[in-house]
Order: sequence, then structure tokens, then C-alpha cells
Amino acid sequence: MEDIKILVIDDEKNILESIKMVLTYENYKVETASSGLDGVELFKTINPDIVLLDVKMPGFNGIEVLRNLKEINPLTEVIMISGHSGIEEAVEASKLGAFDFLEKPLARDKLILTVRNAAEKVMLLKENYTLKIISEKKYLLIGTSPKMQELRQIIARVSKTNSTVLITGESGTGKELIARSIYITSSRSKKKFVQVNCAAIPDELIESELFGHEKGSFTGAYEKKIGKFDNAHNGTIFLDEIGDLSLKAQAKVLRVLEEGEIQRVGSPEVRKIDVRVIAATNKNLKDEIKKGTFREDLFFRLNVVPLQSPPLRERKEDIPILVEHFMDYFSEENNFKKKDFSPRVMEILKNYEWKGNVRELRNLVERLLIMSPGNIIHEIDLPEYMQEEIKNPSFSFSDIKTWKDFKAISEKLFIEEKLKHYNFNIARTAREIDLPRSNLYKKIESGGIILPGNSEIDEESLHSEMNGEESPGSAGQDGS
Ligand SMILES: Nc1ncnc2c1ncn2[C@@H]1O[C@H](COP(=O)(O)OP(=O)(O)OP(=O)(O)O)[C@@H](O)[C@H]1O
Ligand SMILES: [Mg+2]
Repeated sequence: MEDIKILVIDDEKNILESIKMVLTYENYKVETASSGLDGVELFKTINPDIVLLDVKMPGFNGIEVLRNLKEINPLTEVIMISGHSGIEEAVEASKLGAFDFLEKPLARDKLILTVRNAAEKVMLLKENYTLKIISEKKYLLIGTSPKMQELRQIIARVSKTNSTVLITGESGTGKELIARSIYITSSRSKKKFVQVNCAAIPDELIESELFGHEKGSFTGAYEKKIGKFDNAHNGTIFLDEIGDLSLKAQAKVLRVLEEGEIQRVGSPEVRKIDVRVIAATNKNLKDEIKKGTFREDLFFRLNVVPLQSPPLRERKEDIPILVEHFMDYFSEENNFKKKDFSPRVMEILKNYEWKGNVRELRNLVERLLIMSPGNIIHEIDLPEYMQEEIKNPSFSFSDIKTWKDFKAISEKLFIEEKLKHYNFNIARTAREIDLPRSNLYKKIESGGIILPGNSEIDEESLHSEMNGEESPGSAGQDGS
């Protein structure tokens, strides 16, 4: 029991001393405080597993201290020590969650036994908690890019609060993971996490799903039903795909956020409820508001802490460690030997657009692990659609012989990238990269850069520009 920390709070010094002696001998770590106030302060710094607490103390008495301790950490087991105190205090203390009682004068054996019982309960809880953390590992948010670091900082900050969080971002970017990370690191982590996929539940059932219903409140309501909000009481509810919620259900959710109240379908009774709401959507809610399909007041209520889940293409630096992470995960799960990626394949993965974001990458790694024949994954193992998508001849330096070739290839890649970035608007691209337009045209032609069908090159202006009609001051900036 060396891992169990005990705090003894009693105003009688000799009792403190003797309890400390007995329990230290039993290998517990013991600290003492001789008043309620000191006890609470010490409790905050050492965070003990068990507290032995005298009921009768001058000033801040045992019951008040107990209430305080339970608020700070409800998982601590508190054993009350009472003189010949009344039954009322005992009842009050049990209501507040005291673990057990010891009577003064203390009997050594009874003391040891009671503390051992409490310690066993604590150990069990700790074990469950560790198990939970391990099983939550699959919800780890991977990524070290600046965007992910920023995201983690926001998660850490909002975890400490009970604020409503709205997570937005493209499909597959990890919104659900973010919601779970907030929950796991929040003070409600030991309470429930109830997830509702608002898009998966038909409109006519969503209200009863969220708030429950009374028996017979509508056709098909054969039994009374407890709603998700009820289930999440004291915990966290995750309203996923909230953009798909019907207007009627939105009104009810608004009421929970504003008043902390819920009402079962078919019941006049209004009840108070305590839930932390995290919502997510891949829709643009501002657009939905304009269309009249999402309530503006609900949006503002939800958007207390807005969180953006960045698309993968904005944090390409994370691709190699994500690949590594998924490779570890799936090889372990399938009992496969891990495979390596050739540098060329890694290069391709880094440059791919990832419209399906991390989900697409995750699925690809799983597929490559299972389907590719060798120990190393080569370009040929990639699905065809990816090979088509990658027109960019991304290169490895060892393949390039001369300075001239290197310059030509890098120029071409740079220009292709910029053109894509500015939607193949040539004038804009030229301006942004500070290159005369005529030069850009020349490089597009000589580099054999293929423009998409809808991007227009105005032949006439192209030729007039190529004949040297530049905007003043821009000519001759590029020497090559
Ligand atoms: N940063 C990340 N680290 C590890 N895995 C991730 C990360 N982001 C996403 N994933 C994985 O990608 C998949 C998709 O993530 P998730 O379901 O959270 O996306 P989403 O944004 O909720 O998508 P949708 O809008 O389609 O519901 C999941 O398997 C998830 O585990
Ligand atoms: Mg999701």
C-alpha cells in the first residue's frame, strides 16, 4: 500500500500523532493537519487518496470540510472520526459520500481494517481509470505541425472549463477525436460521454432520442424512454453532425443551453440537467443560417468556444507520423509485420491532396499494409486514382544530374504549385510571385505545364505580352 496517500485532519494533536504512527507502520504515506482550514489547503496540494476526518473541530467543522473535499476531488475516500456524535451528523456525512465511520477512542485494529477497505476501493478505481486511459489511446490526436500544436493548446484550455464547444471542419479531419480529447482531459472524464449522431436519426425520432418520451406520447411509444441528455447528466454530450438537426429539435437544444432544462416528449414536467455540450459539424453553419435551416440563436449559444479542425493538406508535415501511427496500429491489430514506405511513396503521400483528410490516409495505410506484396511499399502499390492525381513529377535529388536540370524541374514544380494555389489565374499568380506575366507564360509553355480546361489563356494578350509589352517597371526582373 505504499502508493496510498492519507491525510489525517483532527484538532487533537495526540490523535494525529498516534494515527500517523499506526498507519506509517502499515506502509501508508501519511500527512496531518490540525484544523479544517489547514486540512483543505493541504488536501489541494497533496491530493490524497484517503482522508481521515474528525467531525467535531472548532471553526470549520468536519461536515463542512467533507463537503469541500468532495467538491475538489469526489474520488477521494473520506473516513469520518466521531466522538459520541449524534446520528444526524452521521447521516449527513453519508449523504455527502463519506466512506465509513470510526469512533473515538480509536481501536488500532478497526482503524487499520477500515483504512484497508478504503484503500482497496481506491486501488480498484485507479486501476479502472488506467484501463480507461489505455483504451482511450486509440483516440490519441497525432500531429506536431503548428496547426496541431495550436489545436492542442485550445483543447487544453477548454478542458478546464464547462464551456460549450463547437468543432467545425471538413469530413475526416478528426472532429470526433477532438471532442473525445476534450472530454478525456476534462474534469468530467470520470463521468459519462454520450455521443449522438444527429444525422443518423430520422427527424421524427430525434426529439425523443435526445430528451426521452413518456409511454404513449406518440404512435410507437410503447414504453417510457430515457433520453440521451438524461443519460449524460453530470457528464458530457457530444452532438455530432449538429448541422443536420431539425429546427424543432434545435429549439429544444437551445433551451438546454439557455436554461439547463429538459422536457420529455409528452411530459409537462421540466427538469434541471447538468451537461457539458460539445457539438460538431462539417457544414458551414453560417450558410445554413442564411438558408433558414439553422437557428442563429443556437449557433451563438454553441459557438462559445469555436474550434477549427484543419484539413490535412494544411498540415502536410503531419503525414509521415500519421502514416507511422496507422501502420503501427493496423499491423498490431491484424498481427502483420510492419511495412516500410519507399521515399518516393512517402513523397507522393506528402503531396497528395487528401480530400478525405485523415480518414482517407488511415484507410489507405490499412489497405497498403494488407494488399501490398512486399515488405516495402512502392509506387506501384498505390491505387490508380492516386497515381493519376499526382501529375507533379516530384523528384529525388539523386535522380537529377545537372544544375540546369535541377533549376528547370524546381521552377516547374514551383510554378505548378502556385498556379494551383491561385486557381490558375495567371495574372494573379504572376503578380503574387512577382514575375512578369510574359515570363510566366513562357515558363508555362517551355515547361510543358498543363493548365486545366477552363483556365483561359488569352492568345492575343499572350502574344502581345510576349512581345515585351509589360507593365512599367516589371520588365527584366527575371534574368533566365
Ligand atoms: N490527428 C489525428 N490523429 C490520429 N487519427 C486521426 C486524427 N484525425 C483523424 N484521425 C482518424 O481519422 C478518422 C476520421 O476522424 P473523425 O471521425 O474524428 O473525423 P470527423 O472530422 O469527425 O469526420 P466526419 O465529418 O466525416 O464525421 C478516424 O479514424 C480518426 O481516428
Ligand atoms: Mg465525425
